[in-house]
Amino acid sequence: MTTSFQDVQASYGRCTRQKGFITRFYELLLVSDDRIRHMFESTNWTQQNKALRRGISIALTHASGSDIVERPMKDMASMHSRKGSVPVDPDLYHYWRESLLQAVHEFDPQITPTLERNWAAALKKTTDYFTDRY
Ligand code: HEM
Repeated sequence: MTTSFQDVQASYGRCTRQKGFITRFYELLLVSDDRIRHMFESTNWTQQNKALRRGISIALTHASGSDIVERPMKDMASMHSRKGSVPVDPDLYHYWRESLLQAVHEFDPQITPTLERNWAAALKKTTDYFTDRY
């Protein structure tokens, strides 16, 4: 079943309009596993925060079934694949989902249990897509 995840897109809008949302997400992600922390040792955070903001937007559009973002989605998956420039072991993706869900929980003033479930479903679609292309 394809859902539009319009409520998730709106929630993402509310989160990104607030200062510190993506920074908080990375703060949570980096302490979740040492392997992850090491991967980000020489990261330019200004660039990375911007790239991820866009990346999540692409991922949510993709999760809602739109194929206009197939290309950038493929590029992100390929970058994080075994042979990509930044390989990410699929075992690590649950940390990514959990960190983002926690950040959303903290930043969206209109968060509800249903919205959290929809967020979880959209993010699972994203990481399943990456895992399938690992
Ligand atoms: C546990 C999961 C993940 C880890 C450990 C991870 C790790 C990384 C690392 C180390 C970089 C490079 C940072 C640098 O330049 O120093 C990166 C870049 C990036 N990642 Fe991930 N990533 C994960 C999941 C994802 C997911 C699910 C998405 C999709 C939304 C994503 C989107 C991106 C984007 C857009 C970039 C920036 C590429 C650019 O520089 O243009 N990542 N990631």
